[in-house]
Amino acid sequence: MNKLHTLAISSVVALSAGVSAAHADKLTFYCSAQEDWCQLMARSFEDATGIDVNMTRKSSGETFAQIKAESANPKGDVWWGGTGDPHLQAAEENLTAAYVSPMRDQLHDWAISQATSAGDKTIGIYSGALGYGYNTELLASNNLPEPACWKDLLKPEYKGHVQMANPNSSGTAYTTLASMVQIFGEDEGFEFMKGLHANINQYTKSGSAPIKAAGRGENTIGIVFMHDAVKQAVSGFPVKVVAPCEGTGYEIGSMSIIDGARNMDEAKQFYDWALSTDAQNLALQVNAFQVPSNKGADTSPSAPDMSTIKLIDYDFKTYGSSAERKRLLQKWDEDVSVLPQ
Ligand code: G6P
Repeated sequence: MNKLHTLAISSVVALSAGVSAAHADKLTFYCSAQEDWCQLMARSFEDATGIDVNMTRKSSGETFAQIKAESANPKGDVWWGGTGDPHLQAAEENLTAAYVSPMRDQLHDWAISQATSAGDKTIGIYSGALGYGYNTELLASNNLPEPACWKDLLKPEYKGHVQMANPNSSGTAYTTLASMVQIFGEDEGFEFMKGLHANINQYTKSGSAPIKAAGRGENTIGIVFMHDAVKQAVSGFPVKVVAPCEGTGYEIGSMSIIDGARNMDEAKQFYDWALSTDAQNLALQVNAFQVPSNKGADTSPSAPDMSTIKLIDYDFKTYGSSAERKRLLQKWDEDVSVLPQ
């Protein structure tokens, strides 16, 4: 009897151990926002839920490529941050899973329309306008004029003074390419990219690297999201932020659950939490000045005022489609990146 009892207890213990091993509380989190924001999100979610988070930060295009490469055997659970276009492409290619969060009604329309246009496989978490920033001291010491428009960046005197990321790896740089095509038309947009290429000193992997380099005095002008330039200025670096005169594109930074996620429950928990005001207000702790998607979340007075920026009607449906993103990147690789500088 006693023996039987012990046996019964040990099998219950073994069973529950088995169950908790299968549902170990962990989350593999792919992050494409700023490194410090990614870290803070990972730590805060761990604190809020006790779920262990394994976070990797990679740029938007790189994360898309990784999720695609892993699709036969997915390793990531949730992808948070980075520009919306590759998230839309992932949705179209069925690399991400549909989910309708109970938090959705707290969000701005622009965040929800990102979801509805992609069969609920992604959603908007923040938005921000593209532009550029420059180091005022370097500009002055090189006797360079103050640029105000996109076309100003083509002037020969800026040769070697402009930096942007590579649009294959970086969502910021892809947004730049797609914005130029939308502002100037495809032919003139590519002529612009070719002219710009002549002035570029380096194509970086990550989108915000060019303005961080400008902050440190290692580069003069960086093409980035305006909020990334504001972050440098607020940190005390001599960086001026420009909203280009012709108008500019913008991003809807997005979040998606990876199709076939091993930790699907935890991924949904993260997703709901990331849409809350508390989670979105964490942005201000790391000077992330995007516009948050939760209507109740705080926006810093330092954030670029989107209502004063001339924004184009960025066509996310077209430029986030698989065929168009592939086509534009291939054309940039073949017609622009190979030109002599
Ligand atoms: C920065 C910006 C984000 C943007 C991200 C894209 O982190 O603050 O708003 O979504 O860049 O990163 P990527 O490296 O793909 O250009």
